Amino acid sequence: MSIMSFVLIILTIAAKVTESEFSDSHDAKITRLLKKLNKPALKSIKSPDGDIIDCVHMKNHPIYDHPLFKNHTIQMRPSSYPEGMNNEPSDQKKENLVTQLWTTNGKCPKNSIPIRRTTREDILRAKSIESFGKKTSNRFTQPSPVNSTSNDGIHEYAILEVHGKFHGASSIINVWKPYVRTEDEFSLAQIWLVAGPPGDELNAIEFGWQVYEGKYHDNNPRYFIFWTADGYRTGCYNFDCHGFVLVSREIALGGAIANVSTLGGQQYQIPVSIWKDEQTGDWWLKLYYTIFVGYWPSSLFTHLRDSASIIEWGGEILDFKDDGRHTTTRMGGGYFAQEGLTKAAYFKNLEIVDEHNIWRRNEGGHTIMTQESCYNIQSAYHDTWGNFFYYGGPGRNQNCM
Ligand SMILES: *[C@@H]1O[C@H](CO)[C@@H](O)[C@H](O)[C@H]1NC(C)=O
Ligand SMILES: *[C@@H]1O[C@H](CO)[C@@H](O)[C@H](O)[C@H]1NC(C)=O
Ligand SMILES: *[C@@H]1O[C@H](CO)[C@@H](O)[C@H](O)[C@H]1NC(C)=O
Repeated sequence: MSIMSFVLIILTIAAKVTESEFSDSHDAKITRLLKKLNKPALKSIKSPDGDIIDCVHMKNHPIYDHPLFKNHTIQMRPSSYPEGMNNEPSDQKKENLVTQLWTTNGKCPKNSIPIRRTTREDILRAKSIESFGKKTSNRFTQPSPVNSTSNDGIHEYAILEVHGKFHGASSIINVWKPYVRTEDEFSLAQIWLVAGPPGDELNAIEFGWQVYEGKYHDNNPRYFIFWTADGYRTGCYNFDCHGFVLVSREIALGGAIANVSTLGGQQYQIPVSIWKDEQTGDWWLKLYYTIFVGYWPSSLFTHLRDSASIIEWGGEILDFKDDGRHTTTRMGGGYFAQEGLTKAAYFKNLEIVDEHNIWRRNEGGHTIMTQESCYNIQSAYHDTWGNFFYYGGPGRNQNCM
């Protein structure tokens, strides 16, 4: 055997070994990730949509897996509130609130939190283990969302945006179940709190509902949170990576919503507040006026340690233009803003916390529509709805091809 053929044989063997190691390790990697994500449960609740909700004891809270938070003392309540915060709403405001599907089959015991179990299929649906739970690039990372042709798809928006110095934001968000064309596309409604220059330093906190089959296996609208401290290079949905400190035993992030608005009929909504606890610097999330869901610790962030410089409310869809034309994925109720109540979706009672820590009705701001002929937004004022807007649209139509 010549030296040359010996080397070739060795190289061939090496290549074969690497190949099989690769497939083994892919499977092993998924198993390891699942082990990391899914904690031992005190009780597991099967939701009618097929999810398993694990009630995880606070002492096994996922936050302790984060290297920065090994010794973290979990705060069960905020230590301070902005002036004028609404903790006791009128009965009228308590109407038509959504619940989550899993709660029809049980409750989590005291000292535990509900965590939607991640399955092998959830991870396999992501393009890679590395991209699991992460977002594709969006309007803060792409210079021009309208003209971008990246294979991440095209993000479209109908949103209201304000610039300034903010310590919080809130709104009542109308909930729908819009048609979404493929499992890779999504349709969502959310609040963004953003700080820092666009690019790698961008900090963002997000809460809303989304229909995203590629992520959640079905087309139910689901609560989600998201955060990033580096312009979406890292940062995750829900518990896909560690950072958010859930403390409520009533809210499962990523869990399906039981009640959705109907065309010409009953409207359902979620009241949401996000604000900075002045004493700790943490950003709290509160739903339904009374449920303290949890917080994003101040130390996750750089620019958001101080304040948010942009707040946005509204809808977003992702379009993969699969047949070369605009997607038929709908936004909000699937109708344009001018169709109004029970057809277009709304955000009402838009409020902000200013830099003096005072809760106020939002005033001003400007709307952003990436393609007005596909999805639009119209904002206005009303005595009881405060600053509000209708938004949404059908996507593809004769003016949007
Ligand atoms: C946590 O506490 C231990 C013991 O006091 C200490 O050795 C360790 O450095 C701390 N870790 C962090 C991340 O603060
Ligand atoms: C929402 O749906 C759940 C489950 O079907 C139901 O129990 C609850 O009464 C509904 N809530 C409202 C406000 O209609
Ligand atoms: C998109 O591209 C077209 C043609 O190149 C250009 O006219 C238009 O201004 C661009 N739109 C944006 C938002 O960049």
